[in-house]
Amino acid sequence: MYVCMCHAVTEDQVKKQIENGADTPRRIAKGCKAGTDCGSCVRRIQALLGEHGARPCPTARLAAKLGLAEPETGLVEAVRPLRAA
Ligand code: FES
Repeated sequence: MYVCMCHAVTEDQVKKQIENGADTPRRIAKGCKAGTDCGSCVRRIQALLGEHGARPCPTARLAAKLGLAEPETGLVEAVRPLRAA
């Protein structure tokens, strides 16, 4: 399955970069160019990094701090209003 359509990079290629030590989207990009054009694949790259033990991105850490996401994974389960209307 393709992760980055702009550069035709597959999920397996991204996982190979992770296995070779890439632990940030920037390092993934350096290895295979994924995420260096439109950027729409960066969140999927971040998710793949998270699935393989990398620290969640700063936005995910902030979401976890605010109680909007799981602290371990950084995955946001649902968007809910911060205060009642
Ligand atoms: S889909 Fe990856 S940079 Fe556009």
